[in-house]
Amino acid sequence: MEIFADTADLKEIRTWLDFGVIDGVTTNPSILLASGVYQLREGAVEIAKLLGDKPVSVEVVSDEPDEMYAQAVDMSSWAANIAVKIPIITTQGKPCLGVIAALNKAGVKVNATACLSFNQAMLAAKAGATYVSIFAGRVSDEGTDASQVIRNTAEWLKTWNFSSKIIVGSIRETINVQDAALAGAHVVTIPPKFLYQMIDHKYSRFTVAQFLTDGRSAAERMRALEIGLGVDAGGAKKSPTHRAK
Ligand code: E4P
Repeated sequence: MEIFADTADLKEIRTWLDFGVIDGVTTNPSILLASGVYQLREGAVEIAKLLGDKPVSVEVVSDEPDEMYAQAVDMSSWAANIAVKIPIITTQGKPCLGVIAALNKAGVKVNATACLSFNQAMLAAKAGATYVSIFAGRVSDEGTDASQVIRNTAEWLKTWNFSSKIIVGSIRETINVQDAALAGAHVVTIPPKFLYQMIDHKYSRFTVAQFLTDGRSAAERMRALEIGLGVDAGGAKKSPTHRAK
């Protein structure tokens, strides 16, 4: 399973790349705005460069299918690793499947975004989306079991040999990551603050502290022993592996 960082924060992207954890990045207009990225092209290209050949998703800013298509073609030319996010429907409920299908035909990688149901995800895959983004947190907001939507979609894609990958986004708590991973998500996109929460554990901190303290005590005792025993008559040092009695 892949992990993407759901952020436009370059420092965080660099950090999690260095940790060897992330396989890509997702953004949306709200994320970019929160990070102070107003120049979409500039911001996207900077992230794309940092990622090398790993993908970054950038979303169109339009509610009109023809304009979405034109924006997507333009965006995809900014860098080879850009996948363009096309919403599954417009604000008025008009399907964006035609845009997804046409972009797929034109060789543009599409991330069909804002999917909140199995049926939406299925139709996005049929239209040729490379990625199908299921927004787990928003699915739960509606009182629906996000894990079930993910599981059903993953099973359906597998049964019918679709190559579309499910990206689970809209992570609200660290447990959502585990739920998505176990439900069969191909990718979970995670805001960095949750990545930090995922790695931390107070009992791990305690355990590491305990071993560090004992390791240092052992080293001190060893030093004391060496000083006490000194060097033997032949000039050889006593073995440092002596156990303290
Ligand atoms: C990722 O691709 C989505 O844009 C993002 O996870 C949405 O998260 P939200 O529901 O918290 O806005």
